Amino acid sequence: MFEIRVATELDRALLVKMYLEEINNDSERAERFAQDFIEHFKTLLALQDGQLCGTLTWDRRGGFDDGVVEIVALGVNKSFRRQGVAKRLVTYFIQETSKFYSENGYPLRVIIIFMEGENEVARKFYSNLGFTEEARILKLYPHDDGVIWTRHINH
Ligand SMILES: CC(C)(COP(=O)(O)OP(=O)(O)OC[C@H]1O[C@@H](n2cnc3c(N)ncnc32)[C@H](O)[C@@H]1OP(=O)(O)O)[C@@H](O)C(=O)NCCC(=O)NCCS
Repeated sequence: MFEIRVATELDRALLVKMYLEEINNDSERAERFAQDFIEHFKTLLALQDGQLCGTLTWDRRGGFDDGVVEIVALGVNKSFRRQGVAKRLVTYFIQETSKFYSENGYPLRVIIIFMEGENEVARKFYSNLGFTEEARILKLYPHDDGVIWTRHINH
C-alpha cells in the first residue's frame, strides 16, 4: 500500500536510517538531518508498504497574506525513482496546502524552490510539473550556482 503522511517525532529513526543509507554514512549528520526535517521544517513522508521511499520538506515564506510556500527539499530513495513517487508527493503537497490556506481565508499563490543550477534531473522533473525557472543566484551553493523555480497557483 502507498501512503503519504506528515512526519512526526515518532519518525526520527526512519529519517536517520534513510540519511545513513541514501546520503552519507555519518550518524551525527543523520541525527541533525532528522532533527531539521521534524523540528525546523514540515515534512511529508511517502511510504510503500510501511517502507520510507521519499520525503518532501517545506516551509512558509513570509506571512499567510503572501501566500508563498517553499519546497525546501525533495528526495526519493534510489530504488524507488522513476515510479511517480516525487510527482505524487508534490501533487499531494499542493492539494493539501491549497486546502489549508483556503480554509483559513488565504489563497496559496506561489510555490518556490531553490535548487542547484546543474541538477538536470530536478530541472526535468519540475518543468514536467508546470514549474518555471525564474532566476539564477551566482555561487549560492558550495559547488554550484542556485536557480529559483516557481509555480503560480491559479484561483
Ligand atoms: C528529482 C527526484 C526527486 C525525482 O523523483 P522520482 O520519484 O524519481 O520522480 P517521478 O518518478 O515522480 O518523475 C516524474 C517525471 O519527472 C521526470 N523525471 C524524473 N526523473 C527523471 C530522470 N532521471 N530523467 C529524466 N526525467 C526525469 C519525468 O518526466 C518523470 O515522468 P516519467 O517517469 O513519466 O517520464 C529524484 O530523482 C531525486 O530524489 N533526486 C535526488 C534529489 C534531488 O535532486 N531533489 C530535487 C532537488 S530539490
